[in-house]
Amino acid sequence: MFCSTLIRIIFVLTLTISCFITRNALSEEIYPKTPADYEGPFYPVTRQHDIDNDLIHVKGQIGVARGDILKLSGVVLNTGGEAQQNLTIEIWQTDPQGRYKHPGDSTPGERDPNFQYWGATTTDADGTFFFKTILPGAYEPRPAHIHYKVLQEGKVILTSQIYFIEPSEGTRLPSMTSKIELQTVDLKPIKDGEFEAFFRIVL
Ligand SMILES: [Fe+2]
Repeated sequence: MFCSTLIRIIFVLTLTISCFITRNALSEEIYPKTPADYEGPFYPVTRQHDIDNDLIHVKGQIGVARGDILKLSGVVLNTGGEAQQNLTIEIWQTDPQGRYKHPGDSTPGERDPNFQYWGATTTDADGTFFFKTILPGAYEPRPAHIHYKVLQEGKVILTSQIYFIEPSEGTRLPSMTSKIELQTVDLKPIKDGEFEAFFRIVL
């Protein structure tokens, strides 16, 4: 009697533990984590009065940013594929001439007064986010890229970069990441001068 009860308990425990291990193993293996990458020297230092997710319009300006428009949508998930809501996504980037709006960037030329250079948004209940921006210009020796940070309750939990092409031979690879394919998006033309791209961030 005692033996059969003990065997039953061991059986139930074994089943419970194996279910737990399997579920955790599955939930951790759906997506690989997005690698961190350099913040770079041009994270904005001057607070903007307009820091929304529409970077091609600046509050108070009537014009539209110069360059090819990029509709960048995305989602933030954990490695188990669960949506991560209420996270702040910040992006900052160059204009088509490869210039940041930063006092430390000495690239000559006027900054585009109609381009916001830096924007932010929040992930919704499905973990999704959206930016309307322009395709960044490359600057030597980097490939074209968009910098971003993910913040949770004001604390930075990921700093990385989005790339649009594989770096060509001779282009400096970002040394913080060995999995650039996890940071690279396909550009899909929508119409002349307008592209869309989808980017998944996995925490
Ligand atoms: Fe950069």
